[in-house]
Amino acid sequence: MNKLLSAALVASLIASPTLASGDVEKGKKVFKKCVACHTIDGDTKKKSGPSLDGLYGRAAGTLEGFKYSKAMVAVGAEGWVWTPESFEEYLADPRKAIPKNKMAFAGLKKEDDIKNVEAYLLTFSPDYVEEDGEGDEDDSDKDDSDNDDSDKKSD
Ligand code: HEC
Repeated sequence: MNKLLSAALVASLIASPTLASGDVEKGKKVFKKCVACHTIDGDTKKKSGPSLDGLYGRAAGTLEGFKYSKAMVAVGAEGWVWTPESFEEYLADPRKAIPKNKMAFAGLKKEDDIKNVEAYLLTFSPDYVEEDGEGDEDDSDKDDSDNDDSDKKSD
């Protein structure tokens, strides 16, 4: 049963080029809102924000060569790792998600914009493998519908 489920999951991950349900092309446009402060080419020195390539899977506030706020470093040290989930939470309301972080950006109001830019950024994190349900392995056959399908609505 579990084997079947994970096989299905793997198949669905392979089938979708982005892992997330967002649209990479649209995300590229949304990213225009970020380029004033973020590069995507590893060159962090050019802008006021850290480069966002290789973002997923790394802990917040840990890109070498960038001077983060104490707040960002602190949440990273406490275990805040960039995943589609934590990214969505942050981008929806950066100041609420990580109080006192120094990103001078109000966030994205539209969930679609967040999903799309997330998908775009995922293409710059080629090594990232999405872990499903970290910590509780057999959430698939419990009917905890309120926390399981919120971010997995595929069409
Ligand atoms: C006005 C400049 C600015 C804009 C616009 C901006 N950011 Fe940021 N961003 C920053 C700064 C500065 C930081 C570092 C925050 C800190 O150290 O507290 C940051 C940090 C981040 C981080 C954490 C990175 C890490 O290495 O931990 C993510 C993710 C992020 N921004 C995503 C985005 C996205 C996506 C957009 C566009 C939708 C965006 N930002 C728009 C300035 C900006």
